[in-house]
Amino acid sequence: MSEGAAPVLPEEVADGFRRMWRGLLPVGRCDATGGYRRHAWTAADAQCRAWFAEQAAERGLAYETDRNGNQWAWLGDPTAGDAVVTGSHLDSVPDGGAYDGPLGVVGAFAALDALRARGVRPERPLAVVNFTEEEGARFGLACLGSRLMTGAVRPETAGALRDADGVTLTTAMERTGHDPALAGRDDERLARIGAFVELHVEQGRHLAATPHPVGVASAIWPHGRWRFDFRGEANHAGTTRLEDRRDPMPAYAAAVLAARANAERLGALATFGRIRVEPNGTNAIASLVSAWLDCRAPEAALLDRLVEETARAAEGAEVIRESYTATVNFDLPLRDRVARVLGGAPVLPTGAGHDAGILAGAIPAAMLFVRNPTGVSHSPYEHAEEADCLAGVAALAAVLEDLLTS
Ligand code: GLV
Ligand code: MN
Ligand code: MN
Ligand code: MN
Repeated sequence: MSEGAAPVLPEEVADGFRRMWRGLLPVGRCDATGGYRRHAWTAADAQCRAWFAEQAAERGLAYETDRNGNQWAWLGDPTAGDAVVTGSHLDSVPDGGAYDGPLGVVGAFAALDALRARGVRPERPLAVVNFTEEEGARFGLACLGSRLMTGAVRPETAGALRDADGVTLTTAMERTGHDPALAGRDDERLARIGAFVELHVEQGRHLAATPHPVGVASAIWPHGRWRFDFRGEANHAGTTRLEDRRDPMPAYAAAVLAARANAERLGALATFGRIRVEPNGTNAIASLVSAWLDCRAPEAALLDRLVEETARAAEGAEVIRESYTATVNFDLPLRDRVARVLGGAPVLPTGAGHDAGILAGAIPAAMLFVRNPTGVSHSPYEHAEEADCLAGVAALAAVLEDLLTS
């Protein structure tokens, strides 16, 4: 968006944004790290959900939780069809930042406020949505709520996913009063949606180098998660001779180095960001190292090579694909329309996954990115300037107005 392309927000809308932001800020925040631990179906998540329901009630919007636990707040008749939907997620990665997700939900309510303040008369329904377990931080599968809704994951598969304590998604839903038997592809709901637009903090520095506070997404790189199980034999660290050991740790270490080298050679990204070691004792040789590899690449063929070559270097490991998301090219007419409304905003790809990317397989979807001065994300240091966030809200409001009135 070139400066001044989107109308400036009325002060009361900007104030409303600030109030909502302050309201959410303490929820699920870890004092020791300053990061957020808002994992699906936990106490922090329940507080986020209560916050969302409150925002809906304050605005007199029709509130509901769908079959998959996603929250919706409707302006207009939810059954009228051709709805315009905006929103994001309120869950976080372990010790995540304040913006990834919440900016898109707070921004959605603020954009709705801006439309009302401008006296816009929507010709179709508008909904704000909060998708469940977007980060996959608890059950391992990112975009769980939108995947269930679109049928990108089967409900039986999702229901059997376990968290670190062995609790299944089914049990977690039951414990929070949500009927897991209802989960699954929601064709009826999808058929009522004409377009989805997600506002999100940029997770990179494309915009930081430009005068533009807001950009438009072109595509999401193909990406996925693979679990590498390296098996060995537990034994005493102080008495077992090196030649007698079956220690899986060196093979794991070699795989980490190979992933890095392969990613560099292929122009892709590979991350071992999580491991589980059994029995996890300083003075015990490991019997098992499970390590999760997150890989992303500009093209599917490169992604396949990256994983294959890393798997080959991981001697003796069993490699299990836990999730895979194909390249997402956002709907071209919608993307062009959004860019036009924003007066020639930069158009950029991303390596991050989003609910908009999952929905793009079923309905026209678009994304707006808000400039992130350092590019840092999935960290307590994630940041966006308030003025840029408000520019994002103004841009979202302009896009929604265009979609709702023509
Ligand atoms: C989600 O944020 C992801 O891309 O991992
Ligand atoms: Mn994220
Ligand atoms: Mn996100
Ligand atoms: Mn994400």
